[in-house]
This record gives sequence, C-alpha cells and structure tokens, in this order.
Amino acid sequence: MAPDPSRATGVDASRPSVARMYDYYLGGKDNFEVDRAAAQAMMASVPESVQMVASNRAFLVRAVRYLAAEAGIRQFLDIGSGLPTRQNVHEVARAAAPDSRVVYVDHDPLAVAHGQALLAVDRNTRYIHGDLREPGRILDDPQVRALIDFDRPVAVLVVATLHFIGDQDDPAGILRRLRERMAPGSYLVISHILDDPRPHEIGRILKAAGAPAWYPRTPEQILPFFEGFELIGPGLELLPRWRPPGSAPDDARPDDGAEELRWQAAAVGRR
Ligand SMILES: C[S@@+](CC[C@H](N)C(=O)[O-])C[C@H]1O[C@@H](n2cnc3c(N)ncnc32)[C@H](O)[C@@H]1O
Repeated sequence: MAPDPSRATGVDASRPSVARMYDYYLGGKDNFEVDRAAAQAMMASVPESVQMVASNRAFLVRAVRYLAAEAGIRQFLDIGSGLPTRQNVHEVARAAAPDSRVVYVDHDPLAVAHGQALLAVDRNTRYIHGDLREPGRILDDPQVRALIDFDRPVAVLVVATLHFIGDQDDPAGILRRLRERMAPGSYLVISHILDDPRPHEIGRILKAAGAPAWYPRTPEQILPFFEGFELIGPGLELLPRWRPPGSAPDDARPDDGAEELRWQAAAVGRR
C-alpha cells in the first residue's frame, strides 16, 4: 500500500526523496508517484543503476555481518539508514550477535516514521530523526545516549550517504567529530559514489527531478574521511571486491563484473 503522507509530519510528496527513490529501487512500497517517476527516469537512462543499488545493499550486509560475527561489535549507529527493507542492520547483526544494539538515523521524515514503526522493535533498537551535517546533535541525542555507550567500541555506518554531503558542509569535519567520540576498537563503514561520467549523469537526472544533489568523489578524496582509522583488508575497494562471499579478506581482485559495479567504493576502518 502506498504511504499516506499525512501520517508523517514534514513529508514533502511534491519532490522526489532519496530515501523513497532508494526504496523503489529495492522493490519497496514506501514511495510516491513523484519518486517512482524520478527513479524510472533514472532506470531508463542508466539501467545499470538498479544493479548499483543492489550491490551497495549487499556490501552493507557483508560489512555488518563482519562487524558482528568477526570484529565483536555489539553497538551500531547507522546514519542515513533509509526506509525499512529486507536484511536491516539489526537483523543482520543479531543473526550473529543477538545482543546487538542499533540506532538508526535519517533526516527523511517518512523513513523515520516507518523506521520507528518497523525497525524500533524492542528496547535495543531505535530510529531517530537526525542530520549527518549535525553530528553533535546525533551524538547527544538522548535516545542515542540511552543505547550506545561511547566508552565501548561502536560501529558507525555512513553507507551510500556521504555523497549527499557537499564539500561546503565539510564531510571530513563531520567524520572527525564522530571519530572523537568513538572508543578505540570502534569501526567506521563508508560506501561512496565514485567520480565517473555515469554517476555524474545520474546526478544530473536527480537534479532535474528536484531531488537532492550528490557529490561523486575520487578515491583520493574519499580516503581522508578515514583519518584516524586503519583500513581493514582489502582497504578502499570497488564494492564487489570488498570481501566478496567466500573469499579471504586479502584475496586479490575477484572479477568485478559489470561496469556499474565500478561506480562505488567502500571501506571499513578500525580506530
Ligand atoms: C541511498 S540511501 C542509503 C540507505 C542505506 N544506508 C543503504 O546503504 O542501504 C541514502 C539515505 O541517506 C539519507 N540522507 C541523505 N542525506 C542525509 C543527511 N544529511 N542526514 C541524514 N540522512 C541523510 C537519505 O534520506 C537516505 O535515506
């Protein structure tokens, strides 16, 4: 059933939203006609974008599984979480570590409304409204403080979200402020759109549809976001090459397949 915009305050159904378009790409139902039209325009113009989204989500699942099952992480702060979907962070983490605690954060009002209904399912999960550009407010939010103990290792996830933050909003400074609160042994997870002609084309379509701009970056521009973190194997890599299923962490160069899978890179760093 299509969402009723009147149920969540602040929802703008006249312009496409990134969270709702992403939901449409993932086969969800929490989107409006304006989102579907923009997503369909993007799919028509850049059909590979469908695989790009799936590849990002698969990376997120692999990273969370690694953190919970192998790195011993039990607290997750997921900023730019999006709408509820399959294999949400708390579900993946709890499959390995049932005591995992997760706080989801997004600035999209519909994502927050649906997330609070479907993801904040018990006392160890929360979904709050927050803006990555105001990291201090997220870190000091009473619900975050109630669930996340920053004296212990925490994983901060900024997956497919940092490329919506332009340099004018100082993404490196945002990550520095997050890092300052993260105890040694914490992890930072980032996936990011690469500076390539096709992602720029997608950016133009987003802009034409009235959706927020995005800011593809080169690996050289992404790496400094991990200042103060040591990248775990294989480092900053194309998404399909980041610990593909069945490989050893430092396995070199499995086939990265289609061209669209070269448009995003990801890394996980340890503080
Ligand atoms: C492409 S989705 C990624 C969702 C999820 N992290 C994933 O990788 O599957 C990007 C999300 O970031 C959110 N977002 C964009 N800018 C944000 C900001 N400044 N603060 C918080 N959330 C933001 C959008 O609303 C959207 O839900």
